Amino acid sequence: MEYMSDLFYAMTMPGLETLAFSEIRAAIPETELVKFMRGIALFRTTTSAENLLDLRTTEDVFANLAHIKGLRRGQDALRVLHSATLNADLAGAIASWRRAHHGARPQTWRVVSQMSGTYDFRRVDAGQAVIDALRKTMPRGIRQVEDDADLEIWLWLGGGDVLIGLRLSDATMRHRPYKRDHIPASLRPTVAASMGWLSLPTAEDIVLDPLCGAGTILTERGLLAPYQQLLGGDLQEQAIKIARRNARSADVDATLKNWDARALPLEASSVTRIITNLPFGKQIGSREENEALYTALIQEFDRVMGPDGLMVSLTSEDRLWDRILQEHGWRTQKKVVFVVLGQPASIFVSGRA
Ligand SMILES: C[S@@+](CC[C@H](N)C(=O)[O-])C[C@H]1O[C@@H](n2cnc3c(N)ncnc32)[C@H](O)[C@@H]1O
Repeated sequence: MEYMSDLFYAMTMPGLETLAFSEIRAAIPETELVKFMRGIALFRTTTSAENLLDLRTTEDVFANLAHIKGLRRGQDALRVLHSATLNADLAGAIASWRRAHHGARPQTWRVVSQMSGTYDFRRVDAGQAVIDALRKTMPRGIRQVEDDADLEIWLWLGGGDVLIGLRLSDATMRHRPYKRDHIPASLRPTVAASMGWLSLPTAEDIVLDPLCGAGTILTERGLLAPYQQLLGGDLQEQAIKIARRNARSADVDATLKNWDARALPLEASSVTRIITNLPFGKQIGSREENEALYTALIQEFDRVMGPDGLMVSLTSEDRLWDRILQEHGWRTQKKVVFVVLGQPASIFVSGRA
């Protein structure tokens, strides 16, 4: 067990943890990886907690209270959870929370439990073991509540590994304040940011999202790093209106137009990056429609992409897109598979072969 107060962990969409850790390393170079788990990067850093809240590819960030390896399935595990919580450096974690919250004094606490894998005890009983310990160690004046607590202690049971941590982030880390309007099939901002990160951003980039929907990808790219130009468009007029509003409220300068991505009003070789979330599967079109659409799209992307351009594309039609890319002379350098709305999706990072 480890009870160090310089341990933190980031929760991500499952599959995006290594990518999120590369963002953490770039932001805070002295950070050391301790372990990857499913949807989690556990790391050690001496940075101040508030520096962890600006991460864009992470859904939530925690001060680690305990990391238990190889928890058994049986009832004795509850005693292990209880004593790990009793021994945790709660004061250190609360100090991190206060730094992350501009010195605020927490008034309330609660426990949130998440369990995957099979155990001989119930999730509520595991949560209760942690609650019982915290009732003994929580500073006076901070009271336990059912919902909306200042301090959220999350218990995460993921097979052999268990993490108990104090949540430093709040909902704004994953639900961006700029994104007030949604459209169907709109992308999670942390996924859009991950795609921006994978595009190896440079200040010279002319970035295109030809199927921009609510504009999440362009907005996140704009927030991630400097750029020369952000261009986007969509078939639906309504999507463009929403995309404009979102970009504007994030203070991102994007040029957005109503267009058909199969016939873009752009010059040949005029962009350096394409970052896009393709319509796929049941979400938007049928398989046959997707095949025809994807073929038309790659021809158009081929035309507008500059010589050393890089494309980051997301789809659940993994095999179809892989084949079409190859047939049109594109080479995929990297593929990141993750889970979105319960189904696997792949992010392709590709360039011309
Ligand atoms: C998967 S969604 C993109 C979602 C977007 N990334 C977001 O976060 O909101 C695909 C978008 O492609 C648009 N679309 C579909 N076919 C198109 C076409 N031929 N030209 C332009 N846009 C198209 C749809 O209107 C939809 O908004």
